[in-house]
This record gives sequence, structure tokens and C-alpha cells, in this order.
Amino acid sequence: MGEQRQTALVTGASSGMGRETAIKLAGSGFTVIAAARRMNRLKELADQVQGIVPKQVDLADPEDVERFCGYVSELEDPLSVLVNNAGYSIRGAIEDVSLGSMKRLFEVNLFSLVRVTQACLPNMRSQRQGTIVNLSSIVGKFPFPMSSVYAASKYAVEAISDALRVELRPFGIRVVAIRPGPIATEFNDVANEMTGDLMARADPDYKPLYQAAGAGMGKLFEGVTVPGPELITNIILDAILSDSPRAVYSAGPFSEEFLGQRAKLDDDAFYDFLTEKTGLMGLKV
Ligand SMILES: NC(=O)c1ccc[n+]([C@@H]2O[C@H](COP(=O)([O-])OP(=O)(O)OC[C@H]3O[C@@H](n4cnc5c(N)ncnc54)[C@H](OP(=O)(O)O)[C@@H]3O)[C@@H](O)[C@H]2O)c1
Repeated sequence: MGEQRQTALVTGASSGMGRETAIKLAGSGFTVIAAARRMNRLKELADQVQGIVPKQVDLADPEDVERFCGYVSELEDPLSVLVNNAGYSIRGAIEDVSLGSMKRLFEVNLFSLVRVTQACLPNMRSQRQGTIVNLSSIVGKFPFPMSSVYAASKYAVEAISDALRVELRPFGIRVVAIRPGPIATEFNDVANEMTGDLMARADPDYKPLYQAAGAGMGKLFEGVTVPGPELITNIILDAILSDSPRAVYSAGPFSEEFLGQRAKLDDDAFYDFLTEKTGLMGLKV
């Protein structure tokens, strides 16, 4: 990279992996536009870390996203890194998830990711360089039961990342997808809050499924230490600073086993493996 100070944009920088990534990028000499809804958190971060520029945006609100993208499009400094990190999950069998909550989730996890990327690309193309990092998940390659709407959004992030990687290579812009397993952030609390009282509204037919899946996931997590964000943010930084980043990085609990089996087994065998692992094998309602 040249002498001029480079700018990075990180969405979802008020918490978890986005916050840690923003801190690391600032420490590596980037000016970091740190975006999220909770401006108090972002301002606090900017007070603590030199080089952070806090910017408020609600990625669930298309009008606010347009306003934010207007600001991004007018940046005069060279923008060389975009980390599309903001995202959240909701739980529930597909019959128990309203289309409205699914649309909102896709607004944040997918459509805003695409729109913010579009806003950044003219700046990156004019420099013929840049790195886009998209936060996918291990569930970008297979759905855990009862969180398929979230998985669907991450499958879409994978497809967009794969397509961008090929489309942008001629301009020298690199695209990296990150597939974390479970990481200790605010992610779970937000998922609980956004899901609400699933058992209270679930069709009685589904209750045995939720119970079995809950017990299955409990068993899966037995003895597992869920790592903090640093495991992933170190990878993100290495990828950004690398001369030749990989297309995809996976890390965290279950990533090796589940993604390994996904790559190795045929569809029938993999879904048997997943049903067994998640406690639903043999269940009849
Ligand atoms: N933690 C995990 O186990 C895990 C595993 C795999 C993948 N991931 C993915 O990793 C990414 C980061 O998650 P995390 O674990 O760091 O979660 P987190 O601690 O909950 O952070 C999520 C960030 O997204 C922002 N965000 C959420 N809704 C937003 C909205 N409407 N507008 C603007 N910003 C919004 C939040 O900021 P505000 O609330 O301030 O807006 C927050 O900064 C997500 O894409 C997630 O899907 C997480």
C-alpha cells in the first residue's frame, strides 16, 4: 500500500467482531469509518482509539442506508477496505418465522451489505485496488435447524461474495468471505431478543422439535469453549494485510468438523449427519 493514509469502513463496529476489527485496523494505520446504530458506543470507541470516525446508520432502514451511502460515495480519501460485518440472527422453524421479520433480517444481513458495497466500489475501482471482507458463517454452507432464515441470509452472502470475487478481480479488488463458528459476542443475546418468546407462539406440533433440537444443541456444545472475537478478527486483519488473501477463511467451534463433512459427504449422507448431530434423528411427531 502507498504512503497516503488509507480509509477502511467497518459496519457493525459498535460491538463484537466489528468493534475489534475497527480497533485493529486503526492500530494498523487506517482511518476507520465505524458504522452502527448505537452512536454512544461508537463515540466512546472514537474517544479511546485514534483514527476512528463514528457514523450512525440503521441498516434495516433503506432510506437511512441511502443517506449513509451518499456520504460514502462522496468520500474523497482513498477507501481501500470494506468490512461488511453488521448482522444478526433470528431463530425458529420456518413456519414460526413471520415474513416481516425475515425481510428485516435480509435488509440488514444482505441488501444493505450489497448497497454499501455498491457505494464503496467506484472509489475502490478508481484506485484499482481494495479488499472487501464479508462476514458469512459456518451456516453459510449448511443450516442448523431452527435458524434457517439466518442461514439463508448467509448462503446469499456467500453467493454475492463468490460473484464479486470474480467480477472485481480485473480491477484488483479482492473479496474474502469469513465463516466463523460460534463466537462469544452480543450475537446470542440479540438473537434471543429478536426472536422473542418462540415457545409461546409456536404451533404445538413444533414443540417436540424445539425440545429435541435444544437438547441436541446442548449436547453439541458440551465441553466446547466458545472463543472471543479475537480468533476471527486476527484472521480478518491477516487477510486484509496479506498480498494474496484466500477466498474463504473458516474458524471456531464446529467449523472443521461440520464444514469438513459438508465438503466430504454427499447431500444425503451430510443431512443424515446433521440430523443426528442436532438431535433430530428418529424423532416422529
Ligand atoms: N458471534 C457468532 O457466533 C457469529 C458466528 C458466525 C457469524 N457471525 C456474524 O458475524 C457478524 C458480527 O457479529 P457479532 O458476533 O460481532 O455480533 P454482535 O456483537 O451482536 O455485533 C453485531 C453488530 O451489527 C450491528 N447491527 C445490527 N443490526 C444493525 C442495524 N440495523 N444497523 C446497523 N448496524 C447493525 C450492531 O450494531 P448496533 O446494534 O449498534 O446497530 C453490532 O455492532 C455478523 O454478521 C454475524 O452474523 C457471528
